[in-house]
Amino acid sequence: MGSKPATRKRTVSPKRILQTSRSYIESQILLAGASLDVFGLIHGGARTAAAVARRAGADSRAMEMLLDALVAYGFLKKSHAGYANTPESETYLVPTSSLSLVDSLRISERLYSSWAQLADAVRTGHSVRRPMFVAGHEQAFVEGFARGMRAIARLVAPALVRAVDLRDARRLLDVGAGPGTLAVAFLRRYPRLEATLFDYPWTLAVAKTLVAEDGVSSRVSFVGGDFEKDALPSGFDVVLASQILHGIAEPALRSLMSRMRGALVPGGRLLIREFRLDRSRTKPAYGAAFSLNMLLGTDAGRAYTVDEYVAFARDAAFATARPLAVKGLPPEQVVIEARVPR
Ligand SMILES: C[S@@+](CC[C@H](N)C(=O)[O-])C[C@H]1O[C@@H](n2cnc3c(N)ncnc32)[C@H](O)[C@@H]1O
Repeated sequence: MGSKPATRKRTVSPKRILQTSRSYIESQILLAGASLDVFGLIHGGARTAAAVARRAGADSRAMEMLLDALVAYGFLKKSHAGYANTPESETYLVPTSSLSLVDSLRISERLYSSWAQLADAVRTGHSVRRPMFVAGHEQAFVEGFARGMRAIARLVAPALVRAVDLRDARRLLDVGAGPGTLAVAFLRRYPRLEATLFDYPWTLAVAKTLVAEDGVSSRVSFVGGDFEKDALPSGFDVVLASQILHGIAEPALRSLMSRMRGALVPGGRLLIREFRLDRSRTKPAYGAAFSLNMLLGTDAGRAYTVDEYVAFARDAAFATARPLAVKGLPPEQVVIEARVPR
């Protein structure tokens, strides 16, 4: 027997609930536009729906609907001449733009189906998607992911390089470097700096190409391995751990923290870049959401709080650990600096 529905007066608005429950629609419109390279095809001048459809190899009537929806959500403009990019889509959604985010949108597109299984993951406590970084993915997938990470990291690299003075550093180790974007940004700023990128061998194969594109290959070396268990090379002034720690369980994280401590010379420093989460684990909202992303995609990863990262560093015998003030860093990210005593 069902219980009688509770009668409620309409004293609060239902708007936010309805909007949020449908917000995947907006996200899919954007992702489909990028997937069909609508913004790249429109780049350079207004085009009709038929012309875009022809160039995309898509259905003309359906393309017109998609283009109108992209206009409705502000990602395109429409005039008598046809559809044109906005300054925002011209800058971030055209694949040939130096600030293109298209590769990172492809990552979001891939993650989307796992988010549709969130309730299952919460029910079982287990991940629902194949781990991103393990061996056996197609080369195109590994490269696509690395390019997407690079597009995202390039947005924050200038702020980080401005905030962290490495003029006395000679050797930098980037653990779980992926494309090595932050290391590359420091190499460009400091001509006497050298970097070692540590990652799985199949990721490093792609990293080599990307580092060459960035023109700093002569000062980069590559060490393949598993940071959850392998020894790290040593003798570094700086170790970077950028968006890697959220993917692993606390014991593995503590072990990695000690090995990163061991990789540093006296006076050296560890820079952790992570998603910010306060001790309530509810703010910023993206930190709480990212924790669920780790539930969907890893065995034991989660977003750790800033206080936890600081405590892990202190427990691993770093003398000091604190969040750095990085002007221009998005509010949902944090950089924590931990120092080794001299
Ligand atoms: C989210 S990406 C971060 C890449 C880069 N640090 C950045 O901030 O753009 C995580 C990287 O860690 C690497 N990784 C994950 N688990 C690893 C492991 N156990 N050993 C070595 N590398 C690993 C992945 O291959 C990937 O390149």
